[in-house]
Amino acid sequence: MIRNEKLEDIILKTVDVPSIPAIAAKVLKITNDDRASIAELEKIISKDEAFAARVLKVANSPYFGRSRDICSISTAMMVIGFNNMHSLVVASALKDLYKKNTVYEKSLWEHSLCVSIAAAILACETRLVPTEEAHIAALVHDLGASVLLNCMPNDYKAITDKAYRDGISLIKAEEEFLRFNHCDTGNLIARKWRLPMSMELVMSYHHKETIDAIPKSTEELDLNICRVVKAADELCLNIGIGLKNPDTSARLDLGDIGIPESRIPEIKKEIEKNYLEHTSDIIL
Ligand SMILES: [Fe+2]
Ligand SMILES: [Fe+2]
Repeated sequence: MIRNEKLEDIILKTVDVPSIPAIAAKVLKITNDDRASIAELEKIISKDEAFAARVLKVANSPYFGRSRDICSISTAMMVIGFNNMHSLVVASALKDLYKKNTVYEKSLWEHSLCVSIAAAILACETRLVPTEEAHIAALVHDLGASVLLNCMPNDYKAITDKAYRDGISLIKAEEEFLRFNHCDTGNLIARKWRLPMSMELVMSYHHKETIDAIPKSTEELDLNICRVVKAADELCLNIGIGLKNPDTSARLDLGDIGIPESRIPEIKKEIEKNYLEHTSDIIL
């Protein structure tokens, strides 16, 4: 989609794309290497004490449905699996890019948490993708917005305010002001940092009307993660967590992931209930 040099130049002239957090870079380097072993991943995580503690906390989180006590990184990796562990480490490192000081930053973080909860619920409901993968990819879907907010706080606040004031979508307000949007920014970051494909897709396509433009050669699992997170984002915008007002301008249609319209009110209630009950468990 956005492999467009001109657009990339415009973004790079405006946005100071941050470096990828060091631990995420290390983990991605070994997981992008086909010969990478579980032992190597374990070594990287274990070397960073604070990070290892965070990973264990996540592994033991009731949200991940673990009933036993996991107290070593090797057990956590066995239980969670290599691929999930790798995404989890990357998402956990990227999470630090979401600052939570101003009301704008807090709102974006609340919205991201809500979408990750909704994506997990939709993953369970549809059985299209593993719950953990949907949950983790959803957490970073608006990373492009977070980077924009970090590097141009005043302009981005003005853009957000304009969207509210004029009753237009954030994407439209961004394009009017910057000539690109947070999905373009997310796509650039995901490619620069060589993030997993599922993360690149959700960061790039979650505001597109359809995901038809994604190359056909893409793995079905990654496409489904993108479909689930896109639906989760739409549901959360409609519910309004992290927003001044719920965005009910678009009709919710979850047919793409096989959810009939009649199920939507119940799913919305479940998301709100889980958001209130479980946000403290989600400690990525
Ligand atoms: Fe977004
Ligand atoms: Fe979003």
